Amino acid sequence: YEILRCLVGSEMCIRDRLMENFTYSIPTTIHFGKRQIEKLGAEVAKKCTKVLVVFGGGSVKRNGVYDDAIAQLDSCGIAHIDFSGVEPNPKIGTVREGVRVCKENGVDGILALGGGSIIDCSKTIAAGALYDGDAWDFLTHKAEPIKALPIYAVVTIAATGSEMDGTAVISNPDTNEKLDFDAYCVIPTCAICDPTYTFSLPAKQTAAGVADIMSHTMENYFAPTEDAYISNRVAEAILKTCVECGPRALEKPDDYAARANLMWASSWAINGFVGMGKPVAWSVHRIEHELSAFYNITHGVGIALLTPHWMRYVLNEKTAHQFAQYGINVFGVDASLPEMEAAKQAVDRTEALFVSMGLPMHLSELNIGDENFEKMAEKAWRPAYETSAFAPLTVEDICNIYKMAL
Ligand code: NZQ
Ligand code: ZN
Repeated sequence: YEILRCLVGSEMCIRDRLMENFTYSIPTTIHFGKRQIEKLGAEVAKKCTKVLVVFGGGSVKRNGVYDDAIAQLDSCGIAHIDFSGVEPNPKIGTVREGVRVCKENGVDGILALGGGSIIDCSKTIAAGALYDGDAWDFLTHKAEPIKALPIYAVVTIAATGSEMDGTAVISNPDTNEKLDFDAYCVIPTCAICDPTYTFSLPAKQTAAGVADIMSHTMENYFAPTEDAYISNRVAEAILKTCVECGPRALEKPDDYAARANLMWASSWAINGFVGMGKPVAWSVHRIEHELSAFYNITHGVGIALLTPHWMRYVLNEKTAHQFAQYGINVFGVDASLPEMEAAKQAVDRTEALFVSMGLPMHLSELNIGDENFEKMAEKAWRPAYETSAFAPLTVEDICNIYKMAL
């Protein structure tokens, strides 16, 4: 049992839980920056001759992303079929329809134009197209995806980081379920990240995206393996980027520097790097997914709303140190304060940031009552909450967090 001594802020601290072994591999090629779309056609042509072009409610037609992408496919002689209308919090019925279109038309690749909902739907279609059963099996873990059509993404919102991870989150409105799966084969082959494509985002989506990036980072940061010094310092850099650039992007939607930093931060918050060597329980995320499952709210809005309540619920003598470090290193909280005081200020600063970005802090603001709290808490709970969470949570604890958020 080794001891690592690390200098954080102005304090010496001793951490005694070691980083776990890990393997790190991300096969995604990222083309980042203005007009990087011009690389898309050649990238897709390396593997595909006919792609399904997946997009949502039409924002990509209004902001030019669709035309830019289609021009790329046409210039490289790649055939394409449109698949539009994918909804935020994508539904399994939409996935099934996409799988059917792929199978009937001999599609050999998927091009996703949009945010997390579009990319997640594309991932599930890509795996479903090479599977004989129902794609919902991946979400219930009845089947693990082992092969998928190659996926290309043109990202239009800095939020989920789905362009650089193997996760897909899909909803089943018939059963009020929102479930996820993780598979190496659905990590996108290539992603185009042009920050100018995010200029057209509505303020609410910009703010929700920033909260989501911060939450992905914090889910990894607030973990029981405290000796992951490099991961924690990188996590703080991502969090500081959000604190600085989120309000700037809201103030001036075409602030390229703010949009670019948020876009790169969103990929790095969830591409695995900040979580390597740690068990990550994704506590706030699963608690939020039940909110989206029952009330179809915007994921990042639910995340922002729950985060300060979760923080206050789990703040105690044992956890105060990590919250204090977060406050000192991300928000510049006074390092000479007693640890608990610095920790409380860190939580207050987090909440104030979200409020300043126009995000709600109470479920009642979204007309959500307490009628489903018990059911949601039971569905949200995972064994990892008691075995590997930063702060263990029982079903009752989750219910109490919902009540605090009311
Ligand atoms: O449908 P369109 O017209 O495209 O409009 C979208 C949608 O209404 C709009 N939008 C996106 N880019 C725009 C734009 N409007 C104008 N200009 C642009 N440039 O924004 C709305 C939200 O889009 P969505 O794709 O739903 O946003 P987000 O990226 O936040 O994705 C949320 C989904 O991803 C899941 C969430 O649970 C939710 O289902 N997550 C996926 C993760 C992953 N794959 O790793 C992790 C996350 O924690 C999250 O759970
Ligand atoms: Zn998220």
